Amino acid sequence: MPSLHDAARGRILFGGDYNPEQWPEEVWADDVRLMEEAGVNSVTVGVFSWAMIEPRPGAREFGWLDRLLDLLAAHGIGAVLATPTASPPPWMGALHPETLPRTEDGALVNYGSRQHFCPSSPVYRRYAAALTEDLAARYADHPALTVWHINNEYCTHCWCDETAGHFRRWLGSRYTTLDALNDAWGTAFWSQRYDTWAEILPPRRAQYMRNPAQELDFKRFTSDALMECYTAERDIVARHTPHIPVTTNFMPLWSGQDAWAWAEQEDIVSVDVYPDPTDPHGGQYNAMLADMTRSQARGPWMVMEQAAGPVNWRDVNHPKPAGLNRLWSLQAVARGADALCYFQWRQSRQGAEKFHSGMLSHAGEEGRTFREVKRIGAELALIGAEVSGTEVTADVAVLHDWDAWWSSTQQGRPSSLVSYTELVQTWHRGLWESGISTEFARPGGDLSAYRMVLVPQLQLLGDAAVDDLVAYVRGGGTLVCGFFTGVVDTDDRIRPGGMDARLRELFGIRTMHEWWPLDAGATVECDGFEGTLWSEELEPDGSAETVAAYRGGELDGLPAVLRKGTAWYVSTLPGPEALRGLLGRVAADAGVRPVLEGLPPGVEAVRRGALLFLLNHGRSPATVELPGRYVDLLTGDAADGGVELERYGVAVLGDVRS
Ligand code: GAL
Ligand code: ZN
Repeated sequence: MPSLHDAARGRILFGGDYNPEQWPEEVWADDVRLMEEAGVNSVTVGVFSWAMIEPRPGAREFGWLDRLLDLLAAHGIGAVLATPTASPPPWMGALHPETLPRTEDGALVNYGSRQHFCPSSPVYRRYAAALTEDLAARYADHPALTVWHINNEYCTHCWCDETAGHFRRWLGSRYTTLDALNDAWGTAFWSQRYDTWAEILPPRRAQYMRNPAQELDFKRFTSDALMECYTAERDIVARHTPHIPVTTNFMPLWSGQDAWAWAEQEDIVSVDVYPDPTDPHGGQYNAMLADMTRSQARGPWMVMEQAAGPVNWRDVNHPKPAGLNRLWSLQAVARGADALCYFQWRQSRQGAEKFHSGMLSHAGEEGRTFREVKRIGAELALIGAEVSGTEVTADVAVLHDWDAWWSSTQQGRPSSLVSYTELVQTWHRGLWESGISTEFARPGGDLSAYRMVLVPQLQLLGDAAVDDLVAYVRGGGTLVCGFFTGVVDTDDRIRPGGMDARLRELFGIRTMHEWWPLDAGATVECDGFEGTLWSEELEPDGSAETVAAYRGGELDGLPAVLRKGTAWYVSTLPGPEALRGLLGRVAADAGVRPVLEGLPPGVEAVRRGALLFLLNHGRSPATVELPGRYVDLLTGDAADGGVELERYGVAVLGDVRS
């Protein structure tokens, strides 16, 4: 199987989305000159070029792309070549309106933007396959081609009649019989029993709350339907070029694609990462996305898109202060990225993204953004050979799962203030702030490599995943589990007793009497800390130790934190310091050490291969004491016993070799 290694070949890939079709060809020469100046060795081309290549049905205009790829090859710049199927040309919608998506209300989603295709539409799929076939045949042997990029951020949704039929076929293979479907969806409730398959619809606009099991299946279906579009194009390009790796770029915290399942279908796992420059937790967020992606990739991964400056889709779009782009870029490399690319190379002058930054901003080559880009490019060239292909290891895994995420978003739940992704991020932050390296794992996956496993929240847990958690603890593993976990099975059916019986036994819980969610801003007093968001009226069975109890209020004296051997259960959300303290203490008991002891606040340390990355997320300089003699690969300076990091400063340290 081809991999990122085949494209990177001992370097870090550096570059971005390149949309030269937006510019007169005279500009292209300037582009490649500046790319060379910036150390760009890879650009992603063709992402939104469908209407350029196929201006009318069946036509083919490849001349401009031939010239472009030749130009890139002549300058030694690799092409991540996209199938342009994310944005069908207007003629398709005009000629075949059935290719356009319909909303839950049945309204038509028109062309004039992008991603306006119905994933179930056979007509769309036919045109996409034909174009992919011709593109792959034409460029199979082109020297610029290094990676295939299929579509872009698969994220369309559709509720049309074609989708309804496709959904029914998907349900047919999942359940075989209508009885099984009626049982799984609990259709005895509110007179929802289906008598024929034809009655079943995608969850469209309804009078009141919809069936949550139907919604869960529709999310599973939509992820699968989009994946069919992906694998169809992937199979075409792979047939022409079995040696070229294939990817499609994820939005890592977008719920629509089950990234664990999708990653198995990719040669390279790539993601688009856009932390908010004003978010005080932006550095940790970036670390978490890196950890997720590396875990899905099981090795080196690719930043397909990030922003060199401001984006244009927040309410207020802040630029990155000097140094922040470099900090977050090198952080991604520290956490396993072997490719660092941007959206986009040259900032657009027209269209909806003209205020979105580029590597080469409207300020041009003298602009601060481009100067920083050049610095990053030069530094990646310095460290590339040492870093590329090396591994990052971790003793701790955070469990993350799309089924559980999906089931947690339904209507009619105990508290709509609970956000699955915020819980995942909060728990990951507890470890990140303690300097502990983390990976992500899927429930039911192999946990044997980890000393400690965290479950921030998995509302839905299948039987096999529950058994695996129990076996993990029985085998000596340490498990810390957050509230409202193991509540429903894979059909979204409540497990009696408020939590799966095997899990209750594992944690020493006899009965979960009630969930007591908290109002926004409310806290509940616990021994030594305050809980937020949630609390639980749970009765221990006497086999576990109450590490902290609720104090005062309705739950006075009941356990907030329970421990039975190496299984910990946390029935509220401790404040940040308390959570960090708790996770740090459990980690220490489990023999998990931070990468470096005694780091100043805001400084992150990551080991990748033989290198030690130090990253200062703080806004003032920091001094880090070091356990030995190192040399900073970025400056060539010796770092004996300590190193000084400027604001947003980074050091990449190698051992001094004698
Ligand atoms: C991504 C997308 C890019 C560009 C970028 C702007 O979602 O893939 O094409 O729109 O966002 O931030
Ligand atoms: Zn549709």
